[in-house]
Parts: sequence; C-alpha cells; structure tokens
Amino acid sequence: MSAKQPAVIAPSILAADFTRLGEEVNQVLAAGAEWIHFDVMDNHYVPNLSIGPLVLQSMRAAGIDAFVDVHLMVEPAERLIDDFARAGANLISIHPESVRHLDRALAQIREHGVQAGLVLNPASGIEVIDWVMDKLDLILVMSVNPGFGGQAFIPGMLDKLTALRQRIDASGRQIRLEIDGGIKVDNIAAAAAAGADTFVAGSAIFGSDDYAGTIRRMHQAIAAVHA
Ligand code: DX5
Ligand code: ZN
Repeated sequence: MSAKQPAVIAPSILAADFTRLGEEVNQVLAAGAEWIHFDVMDNHYVPNLSIGPLVLQSMRAAGIDAFVDVHLMVEPAERLIDDFARAGANLISIHPESVRHLDRALAQIREHGVQAGLVLNPASGIEVIDWVMDKLDLILVMSVNPGFGGQAFIPGMLDKLTALRQRIDASGRQIRLEIDGGIKVDNIAAAAAAGADTFVAGSAIFGSDDYAGTIRRMHQAIAAVHA
C-alpha cells in the first residue's frame, strides 16, 4: 500500500479530440496532469489503429515538453523503440509477448536514455518481471484488455497491483506501478490503496467538461488513501 513516489496522473490522449491535439494536451497539463499517456496501436497486436512517432514528433516541435509515457501495443515492438526514442519519448512500455527477446528489448529502450516499462495484460501472471526487475522503471497493469478506451475496469486487477507492490517494495527498487484502463474518479482510490502510484485515465478526463476539476478530484481521492 505504501506508494513511495508522488502520484502521477497520465491522461491518455487516445480519448482526446485529435483535430485539436496540441490544445488538448496543453489543457490537461494546465489542468494538473503530470504525464501524457501515448497509446500506440497497430491493428495486429491489438484490433485497433492509433498514432505513431510522427505525432509525438509534432507534439515536441509544437513546444510540448511534458513527460510522455509511450505505451506500445504493437508487434514486433522492437521495430518501433528507436523511432519513439528519437521522437521524444521519456518512457516506453512494452508487452512481453510483443517482443522476441524481452531482456534485449528493455535494454534497447534504456540505451536511448529512455525509461523502460513492462505491461501485463489482464490474464498475464506477474512472474515475467522476476528476471528483469533491474531493467524496469515502471510496471503497467492493464485493467482492461488492450485496444480500446472507454472499457470497464476489471476489479480482479486490484489483487495483481497488491502482489506487484509487495514485490517492488521487497526489491528496494524505485519502480513505478501504473494502472491503465477504466480508471475514474470513483475507483482511483481503490487502485491507490492496492499500491498503484501512476494512473492512466482517458475517457474519464477527456470525456469530462472540467479537466481541472476531474484531475483535482482524482488527486484528492489518492491523497485520502495515503493520509
Ligand atoms: C487501452 C489503452 C488505455 C486506454 C485508457 O488499450 O492502453 O490507455 O486508452 O482509456 P480509458 O481510461 O478510457 O479506459
Ligand atoms: Zn495505455
């Protein structure tokens, strides 16, 4: 339960209005979001198609200097790591089944000076982290099946967060524990209590008419858990 690092809210731009992407990103940042979550889908690893490195490059060229958390739902992910690092990613997360050699792919991310994350699908066990803990800056728990925004949170993922929080604390490493999928103002406290310290929210933020109010209520709900 002890999240030692300050909480981070990472709005997923998958739910933004893409005709006004730069404005939407600047608005959620001004509204108190710490990170931007950038969902990359390839119609192969997941049954949906989203955005690629050119979009991140444009965000950087437009002066957006916020921390960008890239979530690769593509196969093979190795192929896009270098492109996203060059486009300006701060952190790149990969799904273990989307790469041929996980240890090598995580090292490939860090070779660029970019933080590395590992993503666990709802049905995936947590053992895959055991031999790569020294190469991880973040573990991302999917609380929906990857591919679409706006799905319902899978409550059983709270137990997975608890188990991962124990392993992270036992390791003594500074590894963030992120939750992604179906996070709203009314369930974010449960995820925080289970040990998450980094929270992705797409539809809950971009679908609200008051970004600042929604992000503030999320931060308050997390703070109440740790009080
Ligand atoms: C799902 C994506 C999520 C998604 C979150 O494949 O990884 O980041 O956009 O959207 P919400 O918060 O609407 O579930
Ligand atoms: Zn995501």
